[in-house]
Amino acid sequence: MSRKTFHGPNCIYHETRCLGQGGFGVAYLAKTADDMNKEYVIKIHKTVAGKNLYNLAKEESDKLRHFDHKNLAKLVEAFDEEIDGKLTHVIVLEYCNSGDLDQYIRLKGGKEEYLSEYIDIFEQIWEGVHSLHTSAVHPSGKKKPGLCHSDLKPGNVFLHKQNVKGARLEAKVGDLGVATWLPDGDMSVLVGGAGTLLYMPPERLTLKKFGKKSDLYALGVIFYEMLTKHLPYYKEEEIKSMTTLPRFPLPDWVPADLKQFVLKLMSKNKMERPQALPSNKIKKTYPTNGATYEGEVRRWIN
Ligand SMILES: Nc1ncnc2c1ncn2[C@@H]1O[C@H](COP(=O)(O)OP(=O)(O)O)[C@@H](O)[C@H]1O
Ligand SMILES: [Mg+2]
Repeated sequence: MSRKTFHGPNCIYHETRCLGQGGFGVAYLAKTADDMNKEYVIKIHKTVAGKNLYNLAKEESDKLRHFDHKNLAKLVEAFDEEIDGKLTHVIVLEYCNSGDLDQYIRLKGGKEEYLSEYIDIFEQIWEGVHSLHTSAVHPSGKKKPGLCHSDLKPGNVFLHKQNVKGARLEAKVGDLGVATWLPDGDMSVLVGGAGTLLYMPPERLTLKKFGKKSDLYALGVIFYEMLTKHLPYYKEEEIKSMTTLPRFPLPDWVPADLKQFVLKLMSKNKMERPQALPSNKIKKTYPTNGATYEGEVRRWIN
């Protein structure tokens, strides 16, 4: 089978293997001739039901261009190229070499011995999402109110480990395929939109409305999955019913404070979820970085 090459304005990328195919397109692992040690992910869109997804791909790279954060999958470059006679938008990302959080959970989820790693990973996802919600700045300097990810789930969190002894797992939120620009203001609500059903909160399923608070709900589900190795609900009806509780209790080894925090994020009533990520108020209760957070986390664990 012939390997693909992609011709960027500054370098040529050579496919080394196919990483996978989603509903949207194909992802390849690739290298350049200049530096065989560095790996990249190339994402190209496909044609679905006769509809060319070129515009969606362009929108995705445009969204990525607004962010530069250690906990977001980083855009290297994006360019147009004619592939198999079709104008294609090629997105080049930095490669995260340690799989995704879905694989991690299948291997290591639900185990007390990994509690501090779960917290560390979660904090990083939290930081990445916070950056999406608050700090969009185009390289031209133009600011935007923020982006609602809309499809947060373990399969869209990529893991990376640097090749040095004792390196920790770095978590990077990726796949801005269906992410939606927020109108101004914290309480902004968007309508419709795509995502993954079992990570959607009730209001999104019933009223078709979503916003930052639906991302918070999905974050809660992700943390819940790390702690229990299960999804909280298996069916749409269970999510929609305001009285149905998650299928599995959080394990006994999860500190009470942390349990409360996860369940607060997963509140069915969106008014009971934190306001935003992380407003000063939440920071006080659940500090998100620096020594205070470490101290807090240690207290949860000890
Ligand atoms: N930066 C990255 N590092 C490692 N793997 C990635 C990266 N970006 C994408 N992938 C891989 O490609 C797959 C598809 O990418 P994703 O951005 O989730 O698009 P979609 O789910 O819309 O097809 C991911 O599930 C993951 O396996
Ligand atoms: Mg994805």
